[in-house]
Amino acid sequence: MEIKTLEFKDEKLYLIDQRKLPNSFEIFVCENYTDVDFAIKDMVVRGAPAIGASGAYGVVLGAKEYKHLDKKDFLEKMKEVSNTLNKSRPTAVNLMWGIKRMENIIEENKELSPVEIYEKLKEEGNNIAKEDVKINKAMGEYGNTLVPEKATILTHCNAGALATVEYGTALGVIRSAFYSGKDIFVYVDETRPRLQGAKLTSWELVKENIPCKLISDSVAATLIRDGKIDLIVVGADRIATNGDTANKIGTFMLSVVAKTYNIPFYIAAPISTIDFNIETGKEIVIEERDDEEVTHIQGVRIAPEEIEAYNPAFDVTPNENITAIITEKGIINPPFKENILKLRS
Ligand code: MRU
Repeated sequence: MEIKTLEFKDEKLYLIDQRKLPNSFEIFVCENYTDVDFAIKDMVVRGAPAIGASGAYGVVLGAKEYKHLDKKDFLEKMKEVSNTLNKSRPTAVNLMWGIKRMENIIEENKELSPVEIYEKLKEEGNNIAKEDVKINKAMGEYGNTLVPEKATILTHCNAGALATVEYGTALGVIRSAFYSGKDIFVYVDETRPRLQGAKLTSWELVKENIPCKLISDSVAATLIRDGKIDLIVVGADRIATNGDTANKIGTFMLSVVAKTYNIPFYIAAPISTIDFNIETGKEIVIEERDDEEVTHIQGVRIAPEEIEAYNPAFDVTPNENITAIITEKGIINPPFKENILKLRS
């Protein structure tokens, strides 16, 4: 079954509105780059690779808006477009990576007219989207080599088709294992506060009849202690060159329990999620989101008016808690620092 998280056609970006799932399936149409900026901030689209591709298409829509200007004004406006989109969310490095690819296209083609640059940008946006699907399938195949013939797998957040252009990273590994005929069962963490597990991962797995059960986040430790989990696989938003990995809040806690009970803990992420400019996880900016995501559920207040919330959207799992990192170029084992740097192209 094919889920197209995003698609660029008729000079617009079409996004599955992930705020509405699983109760309704709606498409959010971005006509200009400020729509894309809003869609990323408000999590119409979310998940590192999906944000990366959307940011890139945001640059395309910026060029669409300004391609009538003379070259100098066009190039200046395009800087504003990149700056705005770069700030829409801070943690997933794929956003900055996608925008940087578009900036490179502008730089390489700056002798062309704005209309011609726009066409080049569209091509590059489509390349990013196509590559993403191939990358996820490759990651799925490598990751599948780590999954036993019969396995119970735990995952956190949504690193599925909805977090990418199609297929997914961690869920891509799970899909590959399932479609290769393995007898797998998946436990899905609900993933408070935004409930990406309950709303999105469950939706994807149920749609494809992949055997699964939803659990509240606090159940994971008990399942692991009781020997009910064979491996954990999650996605990533930014990986430092020493292997420290930022992912959805709660991932770190899961990694600590996995280490205590000696359960393999895998990260599945494309090379574009590695930030080659940083050495450790300490340098990763962790997004803090609105109190309301914690004090309210579905718009209904569940905590007293007087209480403030602390709501970091991500945490950093230290490299020593990670068994291996699954990428499209193969599986990276420790020592991470040495092996990650070998991948730098
Ligand atoms: O806040 P979100 O929903 O954008 O966070 C998503 C995650 O943390 C995912 O696990 C990560 O982006 C990997 S997606 C393939």
